[in-house]
Amino acid sequence: MTNATDDERHDPQAAIDAQGDRRRTELDDRIFEHAAGDDQEGIPFVGAGPGDPGLLTVTGKELLEGADLVVHAGSLVNSELLESYCGDAELVNSIGKDLEELVPLMHDAYEDGLSVVRLHSGDPAIFGAALEQMDALEHEGVPTYFVPGVTSAFAASATLRTQLTLNEVANHVAFTRPQGKTLSEDEDHVSEFVGMGDVTTCIYLGTHAVRDTMERLLEDGHDPTTPVAVVYHASWPDEDVLVGTIDSIADQVEEAGYRASALVVVGDAVTGAGYERSYLYGDWANGEPESSDATETEAGDD
Ligand SMILES: C[S@@+](CC[C@H](N)C(=O)[O-])C[C@H]1O[C@@H](n2cnc3c(N)ncnc32)[C@H](O)[C@@H]1O
Repeated sequence: MTNATDDERHDPQAAIDAQGDRRRTELDDRIFEHAAGDDQEGIPFVGAGPGDPGLLTVTGKELLEGADLVVHAGSLVNSELLESYCGDAELVNSIGKDLEELVPLMHDAYEDGLSVVRLHSGDPAIFGAALEQMDALEHEGVPTYFVPGVTSAFAASATLRTQLTLNEVANHVAFTRPQGKTLSEDEDHVSEFVGMGDVTTCIYLGTHAVRDTMERLLEDGHDPTTPVAVVYHASWPDEDVLVGTIDSIADQVEEAGYRASALVVVGDAVTGAGYERSYLYGDWANGEPESSDATETEAGDD
Protein backbone atom coordinates (compact mmCIF):
# COMPACT_ATOMS: atom_id res chain seq x y z
CA MET A 1 0.00 0.00 0.00
CA THR A 2 1.26 3.48 -0.80
CA ASN A 3 -0.17 6.93 -0.56
CA ALA A 4 -1.20 8.52 -3.82
CA THR A 5 -0.34 11.94 -5.06
CA ASP A 6 -3.35 14.14 -5.80
CA ASP A 7 -2.86 13.60 -9.54
CA GLU A 8 -2.91 9.80 -9.16
CA ARG A 9 -6.00 9.97 -6.98
CA HIS A 10 -7.84 11.49 -9.91
CA ASP A 11 -6.25 9.12 -12.38
CA PRO A 12 -6.90 5.46 -11.49
CA GLN A 13 -4.80 4.31 -14.44
CA ALA A 14 -1.75 6.06 -13.00
CA ALA A 15 -2.47 4.38 -9.67
CA ILE A 16 -2.86 0.97 -11.36
CA ASP A 17 0.41 1.45 -13.25
CA ALA A 18 2.23 2.45 -10.09
CA GLN A 19 0.87 -0.57 -8.18
CA GLY A 20 1.81 -2.85 -11.09
CA ASP A 21 5.37 -1.50 -11.19
CA ARG A 22 5.69 -2.12 -7.49
CA ARG A 23 4.26 -5.63 -7.74
CA ARG A 24 6.80 -6.56 -10.41
CA THR A 25 9.69 -6.06 -8.00
CA GLU A 26 8.24 -6.52 -4.54
CA LEU A 27 5.85 -9.15 -3.23
CA ASP A 28 3.15 -7.95 -0.88
CA ASP A 29 3.92 -9.10 2.72
CA ARG A 30 0.25 -9.92 3.23
CA ILE A 31 0.58 -12.81 0.78
CA PHE A 32 2.60 -14.66 3.43
CA GLU A 33 0.75 -13.33 6.46
CA HIS A 34 -2.81 -14.26 5.53
CA ALA A 35 -4.60 -17.28 4.19
CA ALA A 36 -7.64 -16.92 1.94
CA GLY A 37 -10.65 -16.69 4.21
CA ASP A 38 -8.82 -14.83 6.99
CA ASP A 39 -10.43 -11.79 8.47
CA GLN A 40 -8.26 -8.95 7.21
CA GLU A 41 -8.00 -5.21 7.51
CA GLY A 42 -9.57 -3.19 4.72
CA ILE A 43 -12.29 -3.50 2.12
CA PRO A 44 -13.11 -7.12 1.21
CA PHE A 45 -13.84 -7.87 -2.45
CA VAL A 46 -16.36 -10.64 -1.93
CA GLY A 47 -17.60 -13.20 -4.44
CA ALA A 48 -21.40 -13.32 -4.21
CA GLY A 49 -21.52 -16.67 -5.96
CA PRO A 50 -23.68 -17.39 -9.00
CA GLY A 51 -27.01 -16.15 -7.61
CA ASP A 52 -28.61 -18.45 -5.05
CA PRO A 53 -27.99 -16.83 -1.64
CA GLY A 54 -27.14 -20.28 -0.29
CA LEU A 55 -24.08 -20.35 -2.53
CA LEU A 56 -22.46 -17.36 -0.82
CA THR A 57 -19.61 -18.36 1.50
CA VAL A 58 -20.10 -18.13 5.27
CA THR A 59 -17.38 -15.47 5.43
CA GLY A 60 -19.05 -13.49 2.66
CA LYS A 61 -22.37 -13.63 4.50
CA GLU A 62 -20.81 -12.45 7.78
CA LEU A 63 -19.08 -9.56 6.04
CA LEU A 64 -22.33 -8.47 4.39
CA GLU A 65 -24.19 -8.68 7.69
CA GLY A 66 -21.65 -6.30 9.27
CA ALA A 67 -21.46 -3.88 6.35
CA ASP A 68 -22.49 -0.21 6.33
CA LEU A 69 -21.98 0.16 2.59
CA VAL A 70 -22.24 -2.60 -0.03
CA VAL A 71 -21.18 -1.77 -3.56
CA HIS A 72 -22.58 -4.59 -5.68
CA ALA A 73 -22.49 -5.78 -9.27
CA GLY A 74 -26.09 -4.94 -10.16
CA SER A 75 -28.25 -7.46 -11.96
CA LEU A 76 -25.75 -10.32 -11.69
CA VAL A 77 -26.13 -10.29 -7.91
CA ASN A 78 -29.46 -11.73 -6.80
CA SER A 79 -31.51 -9.07 -5.01
CA GLU A 80 -32.74 -11.79 -2.65
CA LEU A 81 -29.16 -12.15 -1.40
CA LEU A 82 -28.88 -8.39 -0.82
CA GLU A 83 -32.22 -8.32 0.98
CA SER A 84 -31.42 -11.37 3.12
CA TYR A 85 -27.94 -10.44 4.25
CA CYS A 86 -27.26 -6.72 3.91
CA GLY A 87 -29.48 -5.53 6.77
CA ASP A 88 -29.56 -1.74 6.88
CA ALA A 89 -26.43 -1.26 4.78
CA GLU A 90 -26.52 1.35 2.06
CA LEU A 91 -26.58 -0.45 -1.30
CA VAL A 92 -24.89 1.02 -4.35
CA ASN A 93 -25.08 -0.58 -7.80
CA SER A 94 -21.69 -0.34 -9.52
CA ILE A 95 -23.06 -0.83 -13.04
CA GLY A 96 -22.64 2.37 -15.05
CA LYS A 97 -20.13 3.84 -12.60
CA ASP A 98 -16.51 4.30 -13.66
CA LEU A 99 -13.43 3.94 -11.49
CA GLU A 100 -13.31 7.70 -11.03
CA GLU A 101 -16.64 7.46 -9.22
CA LEU A 102 -16.33 4.06 -7.55
CA VAL A 103 -12.90 4.47 -6.01
CA PRO A 104 -13.56 7.76 -4.15
CA LEU A 105 -16.96 6.40 -3.06
CA MET A 106 -15.39 3.36 -1.36
CA HIS A 107 -12.30 5.26 -0.21
CA ASP A 108 -14.21 8.06 1.49
CA ALA A 109 -16.66 5.70 3.18
CA TYR A 110 -13.78 3.58 4.50
CA GLU A 111 -11.88 6.65 5.70
CA ASP A 112 -15.06 7.78 7.49
CA GLY A 113 -14.90 4.56 9.49
CA LEU A 114 -17.67 2.67 7.67
CA SER A 115 -17.50 -1.07 6.96
CA VAL A 116 -17.41 -1.27 3.19
CA VAL A 117 -17.93 -4.46 1.18
CA ARG A 118 -17.41 -4.68 -2.57
CA LEU A 119 -19.62 -7.49 -3.84
CA HIS A 120 -18.82 -9.07 -7.20
CA SER A 121 -20.83 -11.78 -8.94
CA GLY A 122 -19.50 -15.34 -8.89
CA ASP A 123 -15.84 -15.20 -7.96
CA PRO A 124 -14.19 -11.78 -8.20
CA ALA A 125 -11.07 -13.30 -9.77
CA ILE A 126 -12.90 -14.49 -12.89
CA PHE A 127 -13.77 -11.71 -15.34
CA GLY A 128 -14.39 -9.51 -12.35
CA ALA A 129 -12.24 -6.38 -12.96
CA ALA A 130 -11.63 -6.37 -9.22
CA LEU A 131 -7.88 -5.84 -9.17
CA GLU A 132 -8.05 -2.44 -10.85
CA GLN A 133 -10.37 -1.17 -8.12
CA MET A 134 -8.21 -2.76 -5.44
CA ASP A 135 -5.02 -1.26 -6.87
CA ALA A 136 -6.57 2.18 -7.08
CA LEU A 137 -7.76 1.92 -3.46
CA GLU A 138 -4.48 0.48 -2.18
CA HIS A 139 -2.63 3.27 -3.89
CA GLU A 140 -4.68 5.72 -1.89
CA GLY A 141 -3.85 3.92 1.34
CA VAL A 142 -6.98 1.78 1.68
CA PRO A 143 -6.17 -1.93 2.18
CA THR A 144 -8.24 -4.47 0.28
CA TYR A 145 -8.46 -8.25 0.02
CA PHE A 146 -10.30 -11.03 -1.80
CA VAL A 147 -12.97 -13.32 -0.40
CA PRO A 148 -13.58 -16.02 -3.02
CA GLY A 149 -16.94 -17.09 -4.35
CA VAL A 150 -18.48 -19.84 -6.44
CA THR A 151 -17.92 -18.97 -10.08
CA SER A 152 -20.80 -19.54 -12.49
CA ALA A 153 -18.97 -22.37 -14.28
CA PHE A 154 -19.12 -24.37 -11.04
CA ALA A 155 -22.83 -23.65 -10.65
CA ALA A 156 -23.34 -24.71 -14.27
CA SER A 157 -21.50 -27.99 -13.75
CA ALA A 158 -23.61 -28.68 -10.66
CA THR A 159 -26.77 -27.97 -12.62
CA LEU A 160 -25.59 -30.25 -15.43
CA ARG A 161 -24.79 -32.94 -12.85
CA THR A 162 -21.36 -33.41 -14.32
CA GLN A 163 -17.72 -32.63 -13.62
CA LEU A 164 -15.72 -30.13 -15.59
CA THR A 165 -12.76 -32.50 -15.36
CA LEU A 166 -13.59 -36.12 -15.97
CA ASN A 167 -11.26 -39.07 -16.21
CA GLU A 168 -10.40 -39.86 -19.86
CA VAL A 169 -12.86 -37.20 -21.10
CA ALA A 170 -11.64 -33.81 -19.90
CA ASN A 171 -8.26 -33.25 -18.30
CA HIS A 172 -8.36 -29.47 -18.42
CA VAL A 173 -10.79 -26.58 -17.98
CA ALA A 174 -10.58 -23.27 -19.78
CA PHE A 175 -12.34 -20.17 -18.45
CA THR A 176 -12.55 -17.94 -21.48
CA ARG A 177 -14.58 -15.34 -23.36
CA PRO A 178 -15.18 -14.79 -27.07
CA GLN A 179 -13.87 -12.00 -29.25
CA GLY A 180 -15.72 -8.71 -29.11
CA LYS A 181 -15.09 -5.26 -27.74
CA THR A 182 -12.48 -6.52 -25.26
CA LEU A 183 -10.82 -9.36 -27.18
CA SER A 184 -9.56 -9.13 -30.76
CA GLU A 185 -10.03 -12.04 -33.19
CA ASP A 186 -6.44 -13.14 -32.49
CA GLU A 187 -7.05 -13.20 -28.75
CA ASP A 188 -10.13 -15.42 -29.04
CA HIS A 189 -8.86 -18.94 -28.20
CA VAL A 190 -12.18 -20.79 -28.00
CA SER A 191 -11.39 -22.79 -31.14
CA GLU A 192 -7.93 -23.78 -29.87
CA PHE A 193 -9.36 -24.98 -26.55
CA VAL A 194 -12.10 -26.98 -28.26
CA GLY A 195 -9.53 -28.39 -30.70
CA MET A 196 -7.50 -29.82 -27.84
CA GLY A 197 -10.25 -32.38 -27.35
CA ASP A 198 -9.86 -32.99 -23.63
CA VAL A 199 -10.66 -29.46 -22.47
CA THR A 200 -13.99 -28.33 -21.05
CA THR A 201 -14.35 -24.82 -22.41
CA CYS A 202 -16.41 -22.50 -20.21
CA ILE A 203 -17.32 -19.37 -22.11
CA TYR A 204 -18.22 -16.34 -20.02
CA LEU A 205 -19.64 -13.13 -21.45
CA GLY A 206 -20.60 -14.89 -24.66
CA THR A 207 -24.38 -15.43 -24.55
CA HIS A 208 -25.00 -12.79 -27.22
CA ALA A 209 -22.32 -14.33 -29.45
CA VAL A 210 -23.25 -18.02 -29.40
CA ARG A 211 -24.06 -18.13 -33.11
CA ASP A 212 -20.83 -16.36 -34.12
CA THR A 213 -18.79 -18.57 -31.83
CA MET A 214 -20.36 -21.81 -33.08
CA GLU A 215 -20.00 -20.71 -36.72
CA ARG A 216 -16.31 -20.11 -36.15
CA LEU A 217 -15.95 -23.57 -34.59
CA LEU A 218 -17.65 -25.14 -37.62
CA GLU A 219 -15.45 -23.13 -40.01
CA ASP A 220 -12.41 -24.41 -38.12
CA GLY A 221 -13.54 -27.97 -38.76
CA HIS A 222 -14.62 -29.04 -35.27
CA ASP A 223 -17.01 -31.96 -34.94
CA PRO A 224 -20.53 -30.45 -35.28
CA THR A 225 -21.86 -33.04 -32.82
CA THR A 226 -19.59 -31.86 -29.97
CA PRO A 227 -21.85 -31.30 -26.92
CA VAL A 228 -22.61 -27.72 -25.86
CA ALA A 229 -24.68 -26.57 -22.90
CA VAL A 230 -25.94 -23.07 -22.24
CA VAL A 231 -26.89 -22.56 -18.62
CA TYR A 232 -28.87 -19.37 -18.19
CA HIS A 233 -28.95 -17.79 -14.70
CA ALA A 234 -27.40 -20.85 -13.04
CA SER A 235 -28.79 -21.27 -9.51
CA TRP A 236 -31.43 -18.53 -9.92
CA PRO A 237 -35.15 -19.33 -9.66
CA ASP A 238 -35.48 -18.81 -13.43
CA GLU A 239 -32.46 -20.96 -14.27
CA ASP A 240 -32.75 -22.62 -17.68
CA VAL A 241 -30.61 -25.25 -19.36
CA LEU A 242 -30.20 -25.77 -23.08
CA VAL A 243 -28.23 -28.80 -24.17
CA GLY A 244 -27.30 -29.31 -27.81
CA THR A 245 -24.30 -29.48 -30.07
CA ILE A 246 -22.03 -27.07 -31.90
CA ASP A 247 -24.38 -27.08 -34.88
CA SER A 248 -27.67 -26.88 -32.97
CA ILE A 249 -27.16 -24.71 -29.90
CA ALA A 250 -27.36 -21.29 -31.60
CA ASP A 251 -30.92 -21.96 -32.77
CA GLN A 252 -31.87 -23.08 -29.27
CA VAL A 253 -30.41 -19.95 -27.66
CA GLU A 254 -32.10 -17.66 -30.16
CA GLU A 255 -35.41 -19.41 -29.70
CA ALA A 256 -35.12 -18.97 -25.95
CA GLY A 257 -34.17 -15.32 -26.48
CA TYR A 258 -31.10 -15.27 -24.25
CA ARG A 259 -28.62 -12.48 -24.94
CA ALA A 260 -26.81 -12.34 -21.56
CA SER A 261 -26.30 -14.03 -18.18
CA ALA A 262 -25.58 -17.53 -19.43
CA LEU A 263 -22.54 -19.75 -19.27
CA VAL A 264 -21.67 -21.66 -22.44
CA VAL A 265 -19.94 -24.98 -21.84
CA VAL A 266 -18.35 -26.85 -24.76
CA GLY A 267 -16.95 -30.36 -24.60
CA ASP A 268 -17.73 -33.98 -23.89
CA ALA A 269 -17.89 -33.37 -20.14
CA VAL A 270 -21.22 -31.60 -20.74
CA THR A 271 -22.99 -34.95 -20.95
CA GLY A 272 -20.77 -36.76 -18.45
CA ALA A 273 -20.72 -39.75 -20.82
CA GLY A 274 -17.78 -41.94 -21.74
CA TYR A 275 -15.52 -41.50 -18.74
CA GLU A 276 -13.45 -44.22 -17.09
CA ARG A 277 -13.39 -44.97 -13.40
CA SER A 278 -10.51 -43.18 -11.71
CA TYR A 279 -7.40 -44.60 -10.07
CA LEU A 280 -8.42 -42.96 -6.83
CA TYR A 281 -11.12 -45.50 -6.03
CA GLY A 282 -9.49 -48.31 -7.98
CA ASP A 283 -5.85 -49.40 -8.07
CA TRP A 284 -4.75 -46.60 -5.76
CA ALA A 285 -7.28 -47.48 -3.09
CA ASN A 286 -6.27 -51.12 -3.20
CA GLY A 287 -2.53 -50.55 -3.41
CA GLU A 288 0.02 -49.01 -1.10
CA PRO A 289 0.71 -45.43 -2.16
CA GLU A 290 4.25 -44.47 -1.14
CA SER A 291 2.99 -41.43 0.74
CA SER A 292 -0.10 -39.32 1.08
CA ASP A 293 1.59 -36.82 -1.25
CA ALA A 294 1.76 -39.46 -3.98
CA THR A 295 -1.97 -39.99 -3.65
CA GLU A 296 -2.56 -36.27 -3.93
CA THR A 297 -0.29 -35.65 -6.88
CA GLU A 298 -1.18 -38.62 -8.99
CA ALA A 299 -4.70 -39.68 -8.24
CA GLY A 300 -6.41 -37.36 -5.79
CA ASP A 301 -7.93 -35.06 -8.33
CA ASP A 302 -10.06 -37.59 -10.12
C1 LIG B 1 -18.67 -10.10 -15.86
S1 LIG B 1 -18.73 -11.84 -15.92
C2 LIG B 1 -18.62 -12.18 -14.22
C3 LIG B 1 -18.32 -13.62 -13.91
C4 LIG B 1 -18.32 -13.90 -12.43
N1 LIG B 1 -17.22 -13.21 -11.79
C5 LIG B 1 -18.23 -15.40 -12.13
O1 LIG B 1 -17.26 -15.83 -11.51
O2 LIG B 1 -19.15 -16.12 -12.49
C6 LIG B 1 -20.41 -12.11 -16.30
C7 LIG B 1 -20.64 -13.40 -17.05
O3 LIG B 1 -20.58 -14.48 -16.13
C8 LIG B 1 -21.53 -15.46 -16.50
N2 LIG B 1 -22.46 -15.60 -15.38
C9 LIG B 1 -22.49 -14.90 -14.24
N3 LIG B 1 -23.44 -15.38 -13.41
C10 LIG B 1 -24.01 -16.40 -14.07
C11 LIG B 1 -25.04 -17.33 -13.72
N4 LIG B 1 -25.67 -17.30 -12.56
N5 LIG B 1 -25.36 -18.28 -14.63
C12 LIG B 1 -24.73 -18.36 -15.81
N6 LIG B 1 -23.75 -17.51 -16.18
C13 LIG B 1 -23.40 -16.55 -15.32
C14 LIG B 1 -22.20 -14.98 -17.77
O4 LIG B 1 -21.49 -15.54 -18.86
C15 LIG B 1 -21.98 -13.49 -17.71
O5 LIG B 1 -21.95 -12.93 -19.00
